[in-house]
Amino acid sequence: MSKPLRVLSGIQPSGKLTLGNYIGAMKNFVELQKDYECFFMIVDLHAITVPQEPAALREQTESVAALFIAAGIDPAQAAVFVQSHVPQHAELGWIMTTLSYMGELERMTQFKDKSEGKDAVGAGLFVYPSLMAADILLYQANLVPVGDDQKQHLELTRDLAGRFNFKFGETLTVPEPYIPKVGARIMSLDDASKKMSKSNPNAGSFIALLDSPDDIRKKISRAKTDLGREIVFDPKEKPEISNLMTIYSNCAGISLEEVQARYEGQGYGAFKKDLAEQVVATLEPLQQRYREIRESGEIHEILRAGAEKARAVAEVTTRQVKEAMGFLLPSSKR
Ligand code: AMP
Ligand code: TRP
Repeated sequence: MSKPLRVLSGIQPSGKLTLGNYIGAMKNFVELQKDYECFFMIVDLHAITVPQEPAALREQTESVAALFIAAGIDPAQAAVFVQSHVPQHAELGWIMTTLSYMGELERMTQFKDKSEGKDAVGAGLFVYPSLMAADILLYQANLVPVGDDQKQHLELTRDLAGRFNFKFGETLTVPEPYIPKVGARIMSLDDASKKMSKSNPNAGSFIALLDSPDDIRKKISRAKTDLGREIVFDPKEKPEISNLMTIYSNCAGISLEEVQARYEGQGYGAFKKDLAEQVVATLEPLQQRYREIRESGEIHEILRAGAEKARAVAEVTTRQVKEAMGFLLPSSKR
């Protein structure tokens, strides 16, 4: 039997996770776990590239782990772990930093966005993509489910893997991005030219996975709409409604064409009302499971077992990488 293909992805434990994270990434994690050997992690080492309050970082890490499970990731099938529990991430991260060029890191749009207008920019923010490459390459991952905004980081990861293999011999798997066809980029509810993001100071612009049903209804009823009243998918002419239709399509599990057909001849009001119920129906069971998981405390054992599984793979790759590069490996006791 051939080896199952590997999948790896990560989400930062910063702020609240949004419906964008769910549709763009987490929903796919759940789908992929049946057919692939999966590794899903909470990337705390990435989170500290911007200042974090210690108590909040700890709480958010646990919270995101519980959300993974609540969203349907089965710890019996997939390894769920915290990045810093596997020290090889920092180690291979450093190695990938030494293989990266300043020029290619300077071109990363996420770096440009996050550093724009700031006079003190942490060096960690700059080498963030090299650490992300290490995350992926450590597991020899074939597929990486992410939203559209991570495509450029994936390209860099592929370049670094190729560069390593060229210099030191075939060692690392070159990964492919796995990006949803509908929902790779969920936009802000107040401005469809911006990505829905947990760091937006206007809480009305995003739906957090743990928002109450009433808040969800309020936010959707206030979401911006375009001129006219038809429910048609046209991201250029009707970006706001097209974004809401994308959310509907994902939550209801039907295609955009079906959404359009369902609301033919109806106005924005009726559509938004139903959309809110679709989102509530998607998130309510997740929230219920989330509360149960947090109360039970089971997350600690899940993360311990996940890190053990991850470490076993990470150790092998790190040894291969160091050997190929000419590191003198410590001899084992005789
Ligand atoms: P982050 O919250 O930046 O750690 O992102 C975690 C994952 O969610 C990544 O795969 C992102 O690409 C994805 N993601 C974040 N925001 C959105 C969005 N608005 N639409 C679709 N995917 C998103
Ligand atoms: N950079 C990703 C984000 O901001 C998070 C991330 C870190 C990641 N390491 C990863 C995603 C490895 C996929 C694979 O969303």
